[in-house]
Amino acid sequence: MTGGSAPPPAGTGGARPYVLLSCATSIDGYIDDVSDQRLLLSNAEDLDRVDGVRAGCDAILVGAGTVRRDDPRLLVRAESSRRARVARGLPPSPVKVTLTVQGDLDPAARFFTAGDAEKIVYCARPAVEKTTELLDGLATVVDAGDPPDLHRVLADLAGRGVRRLMVEGGGTVHAQFLTAGLADELHLVVAPFFVGDRRAPRFVGDGPFPWHPGRRARVVEVRQIGDVVLARYALSERCPEA
Ligand SMILES: NC(=O)c1ccc[n+]([C@@H]2O[C@H](COP(=O)([O-])OP(=O)(O)OC[C@H]3O[C@@H](n4cnc5c(N)ncnc54)[C@H](OP(=O)(O)O)[C@@H]3O)[C@@H](O)[C@H]2O)c1
Repeated sequence: MTGGSAPPPAGTGGARPYVLLSCATSIDGYIDDVSDQRLLLSNAEDLDRVDGVRAGCDAILVGAGTVRRDDPRLLVRAESSRRARVARGLPPSPVKVTLTVQGDLDPAARFFTAGDAEKIVYCARPAVEKTTELLDGLATVVDAGDPPDLHRVLADLAGRGVRRLMVEGGGTVHAQFLTAGLADELHLVVAPFFVGDRRAPRFVGDGPFPWHPGRRARVVEVRQIGDVVLARYALSERCPEA
């Protein structure tokens, strides 16, 4: 399986999928506010771009917190992209993937009910049995270890044919991929407003990030898209432009 328009070059460091992180923030670095509504940071043109990036991936991953809070569908929306995938022998939308420790997921969430894409739930070992019963017939529940291990998750995805993985948040999951050195590329969109409320979640929290003042990440593209700015960073040598 591969939907990647730009698969990683051969022989560049192991079998794990190419990992592309995607996030939208406010000018002050928040990815949401504290209201009950989902905060719209992107604009229509940028959402089309994100849709295109999705269409070029084999799987899309979000944390269980995002499934609960945002209830995303995680489908490719553009009919032309869906048809192009099918013409390449792929399903119309990538595999949907989530991570959970507790297994506290709603079977009625759109992650499970929207579209025909395969769904995989990587779950901490103690909750695997309970989660498998809860999601019977809706998703494949896979033991992610105890504690869960992202290397194991990526190896399992690679074994299922996933070569290009898009990670769409939230902050906890992004921070884990970044601090584990398991990210190859970051797409960061900055919306032209402030949230200004420290109770709101930020892109990432504290952590030993591999990029710091002594090791700066490489910017490979900056683009204005309507009223937002996209910055693309190469985070590993696997990024074709690195
Ligand atoms: N602006 C954006 O681009 C964007 C994109 C996505 C999300 N968001 C926002 O991000 C916020 C959610 O972020 P969040 O940090 O609370 O949640 P999250 O990162 O989506 O999910 C965190 C949850 O994932 C599970 N998890 C994390 N690491 C795991 C691992 N290694 N193994 C197994 N399970 C693991 C745990 O689930 P359990 O609790 O089930 O055990 C954990 O509570 C929301 O406000 C959402 O709106 C913004």
